[in-house]
Amino acid sequence: MASSVNRRDWIKYSSLATLGLGFRMPTMGNEEGIVKSYGADRGLINLSSNENPYGISPGAREAVLGMLGETHRYQYNIAPLKTFKKELAHHLGVSENQVLLTPGSGEALGLLARSYSSGKLVTAYPTFGILPATAKKIGTKVVEIPLTPEKVHDLPAMLKAIDSETALVYICNPANPTGTIVSPAALKAFCIEASKKAVVAIDEAYIDFLDAPDNESMIGLIQQHPNIIVIGTFSKIHAMAGLRVGYVVGHLSRIKPLEEDYFTRAQFSMSVLSMTAAQASLKDPDHHRISKQKNEQARTYTYNELKKLHINAVPSYTNFLFFPLGNYPGNFADDMLKQQIFLRSDVYSGEKWARVSIGTMEEMQQFIQVMKANWKS
Ligand SMILES: Cc1ncc(COP(=O)(O)O)c(C=O)c1O
Repeated sequence: MASSVNRRDWIKYSSLATLGLGFRMPTMGNEEGIVKSYGADRGLINLSSNENPYGISPGAREAVLGMLGETHRYQYNIAPLKTFKKELAHHLGVSENQVLLTPGSGEALGLLARSYSSGKLVTAYPTFGILPATAKKIGTKVVEIPLTPEKVHDLPAMLKAIDSETALVYICNPANPTGTIVSPAALKAFCIEASKKAVVAIDEAYIDFLDAPDNESMIGLIQQHPNIIVIGTFSKIHAMAGLRVGYVVGHLSRIKPLEEDYFTRAQFSMSVLSMTAAQASLKDPDHHRISKQKNEQARTYTYNELKKLHINAVPSYTNFLFFPLGNYPGNFADDMLKQQIFLRSDVYSGEKWARVSIGTMEEMQQFIQVMKANWKS
């Protein structure tokens, strides 16, 4: 299987290059790398971690290969990397001292849970787990506000839950595991109000999958409202999950203490190759545009095919779909794994749900084939 996928990817990349879509042909070594994901050699299709299945951009690939000869050096001794943070800040429309770099945004979320542990955390349920799980682990009281029946953040209820004992509010928009969004206008109004009482952290891991006007970042608020901070990652549209590049953006008065908390690790925490890839990826918007288009096509296909099986997935704005399992008997994820599909399922407030990441069209076709043969409603 692996070699046939290799071939297909090779053809795909070659034809995209021919179409002038900005792809350069990967080298043979990189072609191999595209399919060596967990279990792929055993025929397993990994739809569990919301990764970008198309791999890092050709520009990033080339830059990483070019940097291999410098990996005996610390990052601060490599001249081109000295400008990475500045370039990222420019890309985000802020200044360099408003950005804290972390090895993946998960690390940033853990840091926030620890740094703002003086009071309660208010967040949604369900939501992305790292920040609330870290908060619980260190003894912070976590107030979890259920999503609306449409699986959207209930902003009025969250606002009501914030009081003088709240230190931190965490919202993931677009939301994980549901794939829903709140409008920028509603989120802005919420952030401004909530930040009068607590620090508000908006996790924008999936924002690049959105179209305008929904893709407006809350970064625009940080200068006027120092209690608002934004978390971002290169793991999703940039396809760099294994390279671990994340960041926090905020007012200098927020970033400086976080940086001081993080100081010793921040100096060395991101590898030379990761920074190199991220720096090059910022200059490769064609790659992100094509990933986004392909994701939309595969997501629409999957959503419609699930509907034919009478499964109403939550309309998603991201690279994953969340769908109800109704009275499905047994453990859905375990059953799917037996069929070589790796995805997530869980029970939320007494209801069974599954989350499937959007892979390539071929992977989603195989997923649907397995669903057609095995779905027990
Ligand atoms: C909402 C959200 N935030 C943050 C992350 C962490 O990403 P990373 O640590 O790879 O940057 C994820 C990963 O899936 C996520 O879904």
